Amino acid sequence: MTLAEEIRTLKEERDAVLLAHNYQRPEVQDIADFVGDSLYLSRKAMESDRSVIVFAGVRFMAETAKILNPRRTVLLPDLKAGCGLADAITAEQLRAWKAEHPGAFVVAYINTSAEVKAEADVCCTSSNALKVVQQVEPGREILFLPDMFLGDYVRRKTGRAMHLWVGDCPVHAKLRPETLARARAEHPGAPVVAHPECGCASQVLPEVDRVLSTDGMVRFAEETRDREVLVATEVGILHRMRRLNPTTRFSALDAEAVCPYMKEIDLEDVRDALARLQYRIEVDPEVAGKARRALERMVAA
Ligand code: 13P
Ligand code: SF4
Repeated sequence: MTLAEEIRTLKEERDAVLLAHNYQRPEVQDIADFVGDSLYLSRKAMESDRSVIVFAGVRFMAETAKILNPRRTVLLPDLKAGCGLADAITAEQLRAWKAEHPGAFVVAYINTSAEVKAEADVCCTSSNALKVVQQVEPGREILFLPDMFLGDYVRRKTGRAMHLWVGDCPVHAKLRPETLARARAEHPGAPVVAHPECGCASQVLPEVDRVLSTDGMVRFAEETRDREVLVATEVGILHRMRRLNPTTRFSALDAEAVCPYMKEIDLEDVRDALARLQYRIEVDPEVAGKARRALERMVAA
């Protein structure tokens, strides 16, 4: 039996669904039941009626799944799959920041720990951050965390005054104006699609053709008739884009934009997760209750 066959059999035996983020290894994406961005996968996890949810992604995504659907067993196949951006703020730091701004409305990007989400009024992802911030009552002071580049983009697009936490994604922060200039020179005329976590957003994002979440990029790939497109995000996304549109050439803005956390999980890990029911993600019920409010508002936005 091949590994893929073993996984399919175990999935049935365990009554499991396999969710994979767009940055996962191609072979993991190919065997998943659903592949998508953070918002899409949160919804899929919330709606799942399977006994087990195997999350091929990173820890904050598996935690989100557990919070939104607490009766299911949620498995993260490798506990090293963290997120450099989520590590940029702790709940203690957020409590101290809130104390400096009493009454402020707290918008937390989904790339945060459950404890940080529990301190937030609402969560958002890259695909609904603009909408979430636009829905905050006018005039209310806003704290946005932890990605300063996404925050800066949202601030400029919505015109809302926001305080930004100084955090960034170690992968996207390296995609800077110089990276864009170099890629444009090497690929003249190719439009650029960029993730809003990209570094130096105030200089990079106004220069690109579209600012999109990873699923936004996948939809763009299905529709574009361009000969070549430059993609400014983690390179794992190219797998789906190329498969969906084999006639357009999709090139990475920077081929070294690889998220080590997103590459931790391989097929053996998925197989072992299903065979041994490892590694179970649990969230303290009190923390989960508070974080659920912020996540449900995000899903409803
Ligand atoms: P998306 O929500 O766009 O999939 O982004 C998740 C992420 O981790 C980006 O680095
Ligand atoms: Fe976190 Fe950045 Fe990796 Fe996304 S690409 S999971 S934000 S470290």
